Amino acid sequence: MPSNKINKKKIKKSGPKGKQILSPKGMHDVLPEEAQARDKLYKVAKDVLEFYGFGKIETPIVENAELFSRTVGESTDIVEKEMYAVRSRGKEHLVMRPEMTASVVRSYLEHGLHRLPQPQFLYYIGPAFRHENPQAGRYRQFWQIGAEVLGGESDPIYDAQIIIAFSRLLGELKLKNLIVGINSIGGTADRQNYKKKLLEHYRLHNKEICKDCMRRMKTNPLRLLDCKSRSCQNIIDEAPSVLDHLSSPSKAHFKSVLEFLDEAGIPYVLKPRLVRGLDYYNKTVFEIFTEDDEKGELSLVGGGRYDYLAEILGRRSVAGVGAAMGVERVLEAAKERDPSFGTPRSKKRVYLIHIGDLAKRKSISLLEEFREAHLPIIGNLGKTSLSNQLEAADKAGATLALILGQKEVFEEDIIIRDMKTGAQETIPLKKAVKEIKKRLK
Ligand code: HAM
Repeated sequence: MPSNKINKKKIKKSGPKGKQILSPKGMHDVLPEEAQARDKLYKVAKDVLEFYGFGKIETPIVENAELFSRTVGESTDIVEKEMYAVRSRGKEHLVMRPEMTASVVRSYLEHGLHRLPQPQFLYYIGPAFRHENPQAGRYRQFWQIGAEVLGGESDPIYDAQIIIAFSRLLGELKLKNLIVGINSIGGTADRQNYKKKLLEHYRLHNKEICKDCMRRMKTNPLRLLDCKSRSCQNIIDEAPSVLDHLSSPSKAHFKSVLEFLDEAGIPYVLKPRLVRGLDYYNKTVFEIFTEDDEKGELSLVGGGRYDYLAEILGRRSVAGVGAAMGVERVLEAAKERDPSFGTPRSKKRVYLIHIGDLAKRKSISLLEEFREAHLPIIGNLGKTSLSNQLEAADKAGATLALILGQKEVFEEDIIIRDMKTGAQETIPLKKAVKEIKKRLK
């Protein structure tokens, strides 16, 4: 058991003050401009998901490691290599969550949400952590917007509704050329049967298989289909298709999902090699990606059905289906389409300029008058010179400036300056809010 004490000697310092401290590899700061784009995406997601009846849920960023090892799967990359362990003072073995589906199901069971009308429609927005090799579109801290339908029947309509909701969400962001890649990995018995056939096929190619696949044959045969190594591509192409090994109920479920998608006018392509990197799925699995990424290696959305996840957690059986979308990847795609995505259209803005200490003091109460009137106004009470403040007003794209100098404070007046023409007019200070309201109309 590792000690919970932080080893201070290990916190290296180089030089008298230490090296510059940067953000951890693969984790990024969100600066104000980017934050605006994110807020826009969250707003669209909230509107679309709430329209479809999803209610918001928040779960802790840290969970017990066993939650993911039992559900996502011991032999998946996520659990084997990518989870961040958390040192805590207690004895629990905690990790930073690598995804949220298992957390949402845990919460559903823990709080008896099965006693509420079923199914429950839940959505979430938050960060997840995976110790992957950082590259474009693949980060160690990334955000997901996810939605889960939990409880009730394992009805294919919910699989379709999840795909519809995420397709509409991406559509609202004007993303084009999207492809829904979809597959069914059947029920438990179908999969056992299929895995046998897959292994038989792989044994015929024993000598060509890559090292990782040798291991996958023992630990997780379905993941053989996900191998990126060149030497395995022909073997994958010739492998039996899972769709040929579905039982009648699994086939009927899948057929209904596709029919519902047809009804909604959502195009899809069958991807019989799509298995996804998490072990909890059964029946439907899908990903949404852009046409430019034909292989779907950087999917925007991934999801599927997981009717046994709650049972794996040792509780009741709860039908479930859901998906999650990667915020960074979607924002990158939205920005590629429209570089100004999320930047607010230029509004008429007012800048408050003060000259001298008396005006600075008076500005405090004037700003409050504007706030109470819900009238936006910007300014910087830390600046002193008039030219500095005029320059700042210009940079901020202000259309009007209010100028308060010593003389104006004494005479209880204020100057309104048209930033474009430079024309100025003096009005009574107590009429400032009313006058600005009129001019901004
Ligand atoms: P996932 O496919 O692992 O599924 O992740 C979903 C989405 O998160 C991906 O399609 C991608 O956009 C984004 N994503 C994943 N890893 C990274 C990364 N390292 N960097 C940037 N973005 C990333 C799940 O997490 C499941 N919990 C989805 C689900 C919900 N299934 C059922 N319900």
